Amino acid sequence: MAPNRPETRERWALVLGSSSGFGAAASRALARDGYGIVGVHLDMRASKATADAVRDEIAAMGVPVVFHNVNAADEERRGEVIADIAARFAERRAAGADPVIAVFLHSLAFGTTLPYITTDPQQKEVSQKQIEMTADVMAHSMIWWVRDLFHAGLIRAGSRLFAMTSEGALKNVPTYGPVSAAKAALESHCRQLALELIPHGITVNCIRAGVTDTPALRRIPGHEELRDFAAERNPGGRLTTPEDVAEAIVALASPRLHWMTGNTIGVDGGELMGTRQIGVKES
Ligand SMILES: NC(=O)c1ccc[n+]([C@@H]2O[C@H](COP(=O)([O-])OP(=O)(O)OC[C@H]3O[C@@H](n4cnc5c(N)ncnc54)[C@H](O)[C@@H]3O)[C@@H](O)[C@H]2O)c1
Repeated sequence: MAPNRPETRERWALVLGSSSGFGAAASRALARDGYGIVGVHLDMRASKATADAVRDEIAAMGVPVVFHNVNAADEERRGEVIADIAARFAERRAAGADPVIAVFLHSLAFGTTLPYITTDPQQKEVSQKQIEMTADVMAHSMIWWVRDLFHAGLIRAGSRLFAMTSEGALKNVPTYGPVSAAKAALESHCRQLALELIPHGITVNCIRAGVTDTPALRRIPGHEELRDFAAERNPGGRLTTPEDVAEAIVALASPRLHWMTGNTIGVDGGELMGTRQIGVKES
């Protein structure tokens, strides 16, 4: 899509992981910017009420919103969600609109945090199945969603695709091994998709968020240390919030960024590049 062309499309965002953390914050921010929202999340019991509350909050903003409580890594469920979007878009087209998934965000947190090898009889080692499941949900599902959305004509020139990565793609932390591997694969998948989709005018970028206090972070063994270390070294003087990242995604969805693809973009207050200056007192 050429820059500065007036917007004629009806913009929708498809957010995988819409009920919590970055996905929920991005869904809210995109809705405030006028996008219709399709959310995919996996919530049972207690967290289901939180998911419903996010959906209702978005509905109150006056944009269309549909949440699907399904496993995003399940091929059949993916097919159902995509068929549902296609049917809704067909109705919108019949009414004269031009709907498109203008933003796709992969923000799934569902992994195993066990060591590869341990001599501690109390500690379990990660199994092959757990490594594969972590990679399927957190990395490979990006390919299958994007491919099916492309073939269904739901993403097209001007669509902006994003996936959430972390410093864990570059650095290793005890017990984070399976997720580190998934993040490295996810970044590679995004570059590959960027390469294959830029001839179609579709961009793909990874967002590398700083350490953020979300339910996913709290599930990592030793997360208190990770959180305190990140807050201490972040030159911005605080942790990243889901809202910091959500605002960046809204901005990065601009039609002006049609030539920016295949990147891993830090949204972290400078956390990765350095540390707070030693000897400089905060005012
Ligand atoms: N929190 C951090 O510090 C941090 C930093 C950088 C990157 N990330 C990445 O950001 C992404 C989102 O993390 P978060 O912190 O917002 O997590 P979160 O736990 O707050 O949210 C995770 C979301 O994923 C959904 N989900 C999980 N498994 C699913 C499945 N199989 N099918 C459908 N939905 C599923 C949940 O329902 C929820 O909506 C993850 O990829 C994570 O690795 C997190």
